[in-house]
Amino acid sequence: MVRRPTLDDRFSFGLWTVGWPGVDPFGLATRPLLDPWEYAGRLAELGAWGITFHDNDVFAFDADEATRDDRVGRLKAATDAAGLVIEMVTTNTFTHPVFKDGGLTSNDRSVRRFGLRKVLRAVDLAARVGATTFVMWGGREGGEYDGSKDVHAAFDRYKEGIDTVAGYIKAQGYDLRIALEPKPNEPRGDIFLPTVGHALALIAELDHGDIVGVNPETGHEQMANLNYTHALGQALWSGKLFHLDLNGQRGLKYDQDLVFGHGDLLSAFFTVDLIENGFPSCPDGPRYTGPRHFDYKPSRTEHLTGVWESAAACMSTYLLLADKVRRFRADPRVQDAMAYAGVMDLATPTLGPGESVADLLTGDDDFDPDAAAERDFGFVRLQQLAVEHLIDRPGADDVS
Ligand code: GCO
Ligand code: MN
Ligand code: MN
Repeated sequence: MVRRPTLDDRFSFGLWTVGWPGVDPFGLATRPLLDPWEYAGRLAELGAWGITFHDNDVFAFDADEATRDDRVGRLKAATDAAGLVIEMVTTNTFTHPVFKDGGLTSNDRSVRRFGLRKVLRAVDLAARVGATTFVMWGGREGGEYDGSKDVHAAFDRYKEGIDTVAGYIKAQGYDLRIALEPKPNEPRGDIFLPTVGHALALIAELDHGDIVGVNPETGHEQMANLNYTHALGQALWSGKLFHLDLNGQRGLKYDQDLVFGHGDLLSAFFTVDLIENGFPSCPDGPRYTGPRHFDYKPSRTEHLTGVWESAAACMSTYLLLADKVRRFRADPRVQDAMAYAGVMDLATPTLGPGESVADLLTGDDDFDPDAAAERDFGFVRLQQLAVEHLIDRPGADDVS
């Protein structure tokens, strides 16, 4: 049996995850809607450490100042009482029809100005409740028709928007970092910043890019047939893995937002391996130290009991995998297979210390490509060991 989550595990959930009543483009809600503090209370009982939310998960789009204040106050009181951290806040710039062509990149300037004001107000809200990450998911930034968008201008406006928000965070002295969340499509036919790579490229162009990183979501990379663990790895390597959204996705289809591990389980194994163990060649190297945040949707076939069960499932699957990846790395057969495969050798610089290009060009005269081509890497054996650990904890007795 898997152990119960503790606060040290730093599991967190979006209020919109357990709070999804099951409305989809084809059907009405299948579950009742509770108040945000009720979801928070149940998550705390399950062993979660934190919660996250969009502004409009807590108060309505058109809520007046007093209502807004009252509802945020009630949620904050409930999370404080339950010992929950509000670790991230984000803005809903996708539900209201005003955002049908985007919040920061709408062709309509008045909408862009409104969108930016809404984001800035959400930044103030994030600071007020003590969040340290501010996610920006531009689900409506993009289009369906190539002729409808001047992409050059769109990226100027995207940069302007993010820099304005980041500049505001600095000017206010808030202890907040922005994390951009990529997604290839849905709700727009093509969303700007479709992958982690695209987001990193935009960040490199920002004036305030030092406080802007990424919030990669498992399913969003997998919807584009990309490798989620590689996306996390490159973001970590770039010093930009500020936050993450763990969930499950089964192949190239609509965004499923399944329970973590209910999609590509082997990929989930290596995701947890990277988060828990870091890069094999540099145990002291960059590590992800942020919350283990789940962004999933309890399927609309489930009652409220299934909602809590699915939230618990995200955490227990993560804990099971964390145990398995620890045993995997400690297994001497895995260490031998990694050495045989040359996994650690990749960390050796290709040029020697102080070696010039001229030395490289003229050296290694005795290198024999045919002989080098004879090398066996044994990657399949290494992978099979991962599969055996995933299924059965082989050798669990000798590698505690
Ligand atoms: C999705 C997205 C959203 C965002 C969230 C933060 O599944 O399309 O993950 O859930 O993470 O809205 O803004
Ligand atoms: Mn998603
Ligand atoms: Mn997400």
